[in-house]
Amino acid sequence: MTRGPVVHGEMVRLRPIEERDADRLWESLQDPEAMRLTGTTADFTREQVEEWARTVADRPGRYDWAITAGAVRDGQPVSDELIGEIVLNEIDEHARSANLRLVLLPNYRGRGYGREAIYEVLRFAFDGGLELHRVSLDVLSINPRARMLYESLGFREEGRLRDAFRDGDGWADAVVMSILEDEFRAGT
Ligand SMILES: CC(C)(COP(=O)(O)OP(=O)(O)OC[C@H]1O[C@@H](n2cnc3c(N)ncnc32)[C@H](O)[C@@H]1OP(=O)(O)O)[C@@H](O)C(=O)NCCC(=O)NCCS
Repeated sequence: MTRGPVVHGEMVRLRPIEERDADRLWESLQDPEAMRLTGTTADFTREQVEEWARTVADRPGRYDWAITAGAVRDGQPVSDELIGEIVLNEIDEHARSANLRLVLLPNYRGRGYGREAIYEVLRFAFDGGLELHRVSLDVLSINPRARMLYESLGFREEGRLRDAFRDGDGWADAVVMSILEDEFRAGT
């Protein structure tokens, strides 16, 4: 697998994660809302995050992009700072399938960046050279914003893993969703 391409949308520009993104990735891991909504419980050290940022772009079977703002001035990006990350992992070249996940830093949520980042990654996955057939994801039942967004992009619910995650003293279901290549093309 090669380093992921740079993907341009109107509002977002996706580029491979680099070592210099470690600060922002670390910041993202300190955000309790994102940890809760993604069901993340692992504790990472600062050193692990730095090592991850330095090496992840060259790991096989996955593409990890930094979401950056797409605005340009004089042909150059106004900012190249990571505002979130979006990942296609578990890429299976035989089944032509992959898993998707994303998270934005808190100040950048609710402004349409997530929608466009997913759309551009799906375009790359289905029609941009990867030639995937299926992209799936898990969304927790406590995350209606993400669920609505995925549905509006054409993902369908396939089933749910009941009470698969802890949420405080209670539990949350993991809802399994996917979109197939024809469904994506029908919606574009
Ligand atoms: C989920 C996430 C990636 C979405 O990205 P985003 O840029 O905030 O989303 P967008 O602004 O593109 O779109 C959000 C959509 O959800 C809708 N929405 C917002 N809050 C909502 C709510 N509580 N219930 C239902 N829909 C909601 C918005 O109206 C918008 O829909 P529209 O485009 O039709 O107007 C981002 O909010 C995030 O990082 N959240 C925390 C981590 C997370 O939940 N990651 C996903 C794990 S599966």
